[in-house]
Amino acid sequence: METLQAIAARHSTRAFRGGEIPEEVLMKILDAGRRAPTARNEQPWEFVLVTDREKLRRIGGMTDHGGFIAECSACILVYCRDTKYYLEDGCAATENMLLAATDRGVESCWVAGDKKPYCAAISGYLGVPAGYRLVSLVALGYERESARPKVRRPLEKMVHRNGW
Ligand SMILES: Cc1cc2nc3c(=O)[nH]c(=O)nc-3n(C[C@H](O)[C@H](O)[C@H](O)COP(=O)(O)O)c2cc1C
Repeated sequence: METLQAIAARHSTRAFRGGEIPEEVLMKILDAGRRAPTARNEQPWEFVLVTDREKLRRIGGMTDHGGFIAECSACILVYCRDTKYYLEDGCAATENMLLAATDRGVESCWVAGDKKPYCAAISGYLGVPAGYRLVSLVALGYERESARPKVRRPLEKMVHRNGW
């Protein structure tokens, strides 16, 4: 898929129907994360790939707005070493993964990590060592119901040329 097509086609899916994502597709999605820009080339990323149904249920149940993780096919938890730009680096990797998923016909939803009170419980459950921040949880799978595309504010209302 062409890059701009993937950007336009990506949308959040929260109704998954199950089905296994092929291993090579998961690896392509993870690899896209690793190719994101990263401040000072720190590459602080660690990706926890969860496909175990019971673990997906438990993780989904720990979040406040990510209960649908219980029904997705895989969830990538994007962790970063606690560097100065961990959040930016983690977000860049997350978006790359969402676009790679779209490219491969896999639906996705970004679920909040950083700043959420459930981060500690999820990290404890997964045995994550101290010093790593959970930036996001990327739910992946195949759509049960088509999501309605979100309306975006018009471009001309957000672009300011040569000053505000
Ligand atoms: C930082 C961040 C946190 C988000 N957290 C959640 C979340 O916890 N649960 C959820 O269902 N969607 C979450 N989303 C997805 C947004 O709700 C979604 O991107 C937005 O409504 C626009 O819809 P679209 O992705 O279909 O374009 C999050 C997105 C971002 C960027």
